[in-house]
Amino acid sequence: MAPQRRGAPKAPEGNRAADRRRPSSTKSVRAPRDVWKKWLRVAVLGACTTFVALLLWGSLGGDDSITEVLAHRSEVLPGRFIEVPCSEDYDSHRRFEGCSPRKCGRGVSDAIITRDEARRIRSIAEKGLSLGGSDGGASILDLHSGALSVGKHFVNLYRYFGDKIQTIFSEEDFQLYRDLRQKVQLAIAQAFGISASLLHLTKPTFFSRINSTAARTAHDEYWHAHVDKVTYGSFDYTSLLYLSDYLDDFGGGRFVFMEEGANKTVEPRAGRVSFFTSGSENLHRVEKVHWGTRYAITIAFTCDPDHGIADPTFT
Ligand SMILES: *[C@@H]1O[C@H](CO)[C@@H](O)[C@H](O)[C@H]1NC(C)=O
Ligand SMILES: *[C@@H]1O[C@H](CO)[C@@H](O)[C@H](O)[C@H]1NC(C)=O
Repeated sequence: MAPQRRGAPKAPEGNRAADRRRPSSTKSVRAPRDVWKKWLRVAVLGACTTFVALLLWGSLGGDDSITEVLAHRSEVLPGRFIEVPCSEDYDSHRRFEGCSPRKCGRGVSDAIITRDEARRIRSIAEKGLSLGGSDGGASILDLHSGALSVGKHFVNLYRYFGDKIQTIFSEEDFQLYRDLRQKVQLAIAQAFGISASLLHLTKPTFFSRINSTAARTAHDEYWHAHVDKVTYGSFDYTSLLYLSDYLDDFGGGRFVFMEEGANKTVEPRAGRVSFFTSGSENLHRVEKVHWGTRYAITIAFTCDPDHGIADPTFT
């Protein structure tokens, strides 16, 4: 009601045209002013009603998606695990007893990798990706194959730089990758009750750097919902290690498990590991990054020794 009190007497005085039109007799002034006040009241009431209606529409009808946060960016999770029924995706692949998922689910932990380790491995990503970069918003560096996004394509970093690669990466960098991979592998084995020695690193394993620049090729379109086991047949267990902080380093870019009922989001946090069985029980997507730069590493494991790869090394 405050705008009405402030607005009603002020407007006619501040309005030159109204001043000129204002009759000299005080009696005839009162009538138009009362009418004006009545109109103002109607207008304010109308504006309030529209505002409330918009609020209601926004919270109920405007966006019908329901989201639950599985891991907040500000939480420091010792480990959270949610079991979900396994999909049938694994049935169409050879089973490896004691390893192929019988228990499925997803976990998030801030206790596997330290913030300092995350910072160190991120500087490897920054070094490598600074040599290239996609024209679109999503660049990758695959340490195993050497694939690096450049413009609309990929180059093989190891072939391109040859021996000079030793001036870019150090043995320590690769050692750090191996240490982190090992820790993640143990955590996954523990969460799913399997032996870590039955898990094999599989490809692709890569750093990703995403910013808000619009996609130029299909490779840049990271936000589509997908199932890892469908995209990469060898994956049984997928993990993501985040190297930057949601809302400090970038906006958007949350990880979303898509489900009927409610989607579940993981807000990235440097050092946070999110891992899950790779079948369609864990259909997921990444939201578009709206600002800033988001770094992460994908590390995946297979139960099939034939699809295993060695840790990345200098080639
Ligand atoms: C989950 O997210 C997708 C798109 O991101 C949306 O279409 C869907 O309605 C959401 N699901 C629920 C249950 O809110
Ligand atoms: C995003 O990264 C690309 C390189 O991959 C760069 O050309 C572009 O300027 C960046 N965009 C923003 C908004 O920082």
